[in-house]
Amino acid sequence: MTGELAARALSRRYGNTLALDGVDATIRRGEVHGLMGHNGAGKSTLLRLLTGADRPDSGAITIDGSEVRLARPADAHAAGIIAVYQELSLIENLTVSENLFLAGELTTAGRLDRAAMNRVADDLLAKYRIDATATTVLRDLPVASRQLIEVASALRRNVKYLLLDEPTTALSPTQIEELLQQLKRIATEENVGVVLVDHRLDEVFSVADRITALTDGRVLLSGSTAQVTRADVERAIIGHESEPTARAARSAAPASTGETLLSVRDIRSARLRGVSLEASAGRVLGIYGLVGSGRSRVLRAIFGEERLSGGEMVLGGHPYAPASPADAIRSGIAFVSEERKSDGFIPEFHPRENVTLPVLDRFQSAGILRLGRARAAAEEALGRVRIHGDLQQPIARLSGGNQQKVLLSRAMLQSPRVLLLDEPTKGIDIGTKAEIHDLIRELAHGGDRAVVLVSTEEEELLGVADDILVIRNGRSAGRLHRAEDLTVAELRRLALESPEAALAGV
Ligand SMILES: Nc1ncnc2c1ncn2[C@@H]1O[C@H](COP(=O)(O)OP(=O)(O)O)[C@@H](O)[C@H]1O
Ligand SMILES: [Mg+2]
Repeated sequence: MTGELAARALSRRYGNTLALDGVDATIRRGEVHGLMGHNGAGKSTLLRLLTGADRPDSGAITIDGSEVRLARPADAHAAGIIAVYQELSLIENLTVSENLFLAGELTTAGRLDRAAMNRVADDLLAKYRIDATATTVLRDLPVASRQLIEVASALRRNVKYLLLDEPTTALSPTQIEELLQQLKRIATEENVGVVLVDHRLDEVFSVADRITALTDGRVLLSGSTAQVTRADVERAIIGHESEPTARAARSAAPASTGETLLSVRDIRSARLRGVSLEASAGRVLGIYGLVGSGRSRVLRAIFGEERLSGGEMVLGGHPYAPASPADAIRSGIAFVSEERKSDGFIPEFHPRENVTLPVLDRFQSAGILRLGRARAAAEEALGRVRIHGDLQQPIARLSGGNQQKVLLSRAMLQSPRVLLLDEPTKGIDIGTKAEIHDLIRELAHGGDRAVVLVSTEEEELLGVADDILVIRNGRSAGRLHRAEDLTVAELRRLALESPEAALAGV
């Protein structure tokens, strides 16, 4: 019994980004298909198209040679195609059994049959060797088990193709091993076509029958694992050696390196395995790494949100060990996180109110809030970031780019010594993006402040940062690089978790 799911010349554009550019790929039942590529290569986009979560601009998807239209995930489900994304879709407050039976409860004579559901759930848990019982609340389980439960839940639904987006990033080595073995078994014993999106060569080579590598939305390599070498795959992922990044618009940092404001020495946590960096006044330090490498964790550690088990930090010459974000803010650290909506701002508040919120106590005297002063400070801060749009409305109604500018001006109002930015231009249109890049450089180069910038976009990082730190699997890989000495290809090579990639002068 064979069967294949195929992408035929699929293209998908988002604004100015051609995320997929005529992609062909064939997923066969009974095989594990490793889908590899650098950040932004188009892996998740391809998965979304193959699972009906998004639609191509052109090209076709076929099953066993016949074109299928996957207008929505339900269409894909009906065809036996299921995706498991990084953001798991399970509900934390429910039990394993409740999650497994969410949309299709078992009933007996019109009543929920909990006992029957629990029996089925326990059988499923045993079958996939998941260490939990039907009545365990999901919140109490490690991520690895939740991942497997999500897979098991997909397999209950007669799945023919199972597509997983970077499922191993949050797992420990033993958990990864277990998950990969399970996927291999599911492919061969249950005749499922498994697509494994993963950027670790070891993992893919250990289970995949076939590998496809995407680079900038194109397939640069596709073949059976027996026929391609790791060097081939590395070369495909890294892409062509490109010209040094255009930096005409770049206002160079002062030649002399500024005073070190923040020094992070070998910090460790559950997910960080030794990261060191130095952020200097007047400079932008860029942090690069692949999904799951720990980029954002480093920022969260500096912001007092990651529990450290080792290492130390020094801020302005003094030992620095923030117990909470409030602590970090008091010490002169400001953070604009990747999650604008969830931990960024209060959607119903106007930009002005959002901007002054963290520093309201500054506008109090004799226990009275001086609203006029707060308002004036907010207006001054907002004026500096050149917002286009009506400020007399809730911030939620502004465009993503303008929201981000509001958050930047809010961070500036805190007069931070160190400004932490996580993906500051994610999902922002190209014009506003360029403005935000200018702002970031102004903020850093203006004086006695350091900016630490995390971005998955290589061009952005090379264009905006002065120095670059690469993180691999929770560790900082070597010294800081000067951005002007790096190309996109070199950055990708440094980020790949492979000693071969680091040595091969690709
Ligand atoms: N919804 C979206 N809006 C705008 N750009 C997007 C969207 N989704 C993806 N992109 C862009 O398309 C490119 C491919 O993204 P993605 O498929 O997520 O890559 P990968 O999963 O390989 O890291 C990236 O440049 C990304 O920024
Ligand atoms: Mg992705």
